[in-house]
Amino acid sequence: MIKIAPSILTADFGHLAAQVQEAEAAGADYIHVDVMDGRFVPNITMGPLIVEAVRRATRLPIDVHLMIEAPERYLRQFAEAGASILTIHAEACTHIQATLAAIRDLGVRPGLALNPATPLQVVEEIYTDLELLLVMTVNPGFGGQPLIPATLPKTARARALLDRLGAAVELEVDGGINLDTAPRAVEAGADTLVAGSAIYNAHASVTHNLAALRRVVDQAARLRRQCP
Ligand code: DX5
Ligand code: ZN
Repeated sequence: MIKIAPSILTADFGHLAAQVQEAEAAGADYIHVDVMDGRFVPNITMGPLIVEAVRRATRLPIDVHLMIEAPERYLRQFAEAGASILTIHAEACTHIQATLAAIRDLGVRPGLALNPATPLQVVEEIYTDLELLLVMTVNPGFGGQPLIPATLPKTARARALLDRLGAAVELEVDGGINLDTAPRAVEAGADTLVAGSAIYNAHASVTHNLAALRRVVDQAARLRRQCP
């Protein structure tokens, strides 16, 4: 079953616990937390305190996406705050293997994110240290951007690479996922879809948005099984 990870980036922070709980009740698989430092990406968002608040609000795994320079400085803080997955960016980290190993030593699942222009090759070198590969489908920094089309064939190549390596690595996509692009990401081989503005928006409730996304995703997954 394909996983859906609502990103709270566009949630109503005045009612964060309720927003997280609504996603859990509506069938979310993870809660995705976008951490931005104003250096690696232009935006500044949240830190370990928010992860702690999310941890108190839900039993779902918390998928923490670190868009920060030198993420090794903060691993322990995020682990202690309750992160279940810690995903670092290849472009922001000098010693990727050591950092992934340090995440595992903290008892957290290690993830590696690649920007749209970053080649997949690094995966071949460190896949045994990885539990999750995040193929960015936008340039990180802001919610609500359109998916970059070339990232879909890249996702398919990531799928093929992981399959060829026999790697038990979850393939996640993040950015611009909506009712139109989600089926295409599933078709490309994604296991987990992050969705921010498609779930947390002013048009409809989280429950409604998540159900609509779940429907198209499940349909695409059925088709993928029929024509592998
Ligand atoms: C982008 C973040 C995403 C973002 C997704 O920098 O990593 O997780 O919240 O938002 P949408 O789904 O609106 O593109
Ligand atoms: Zn993210």
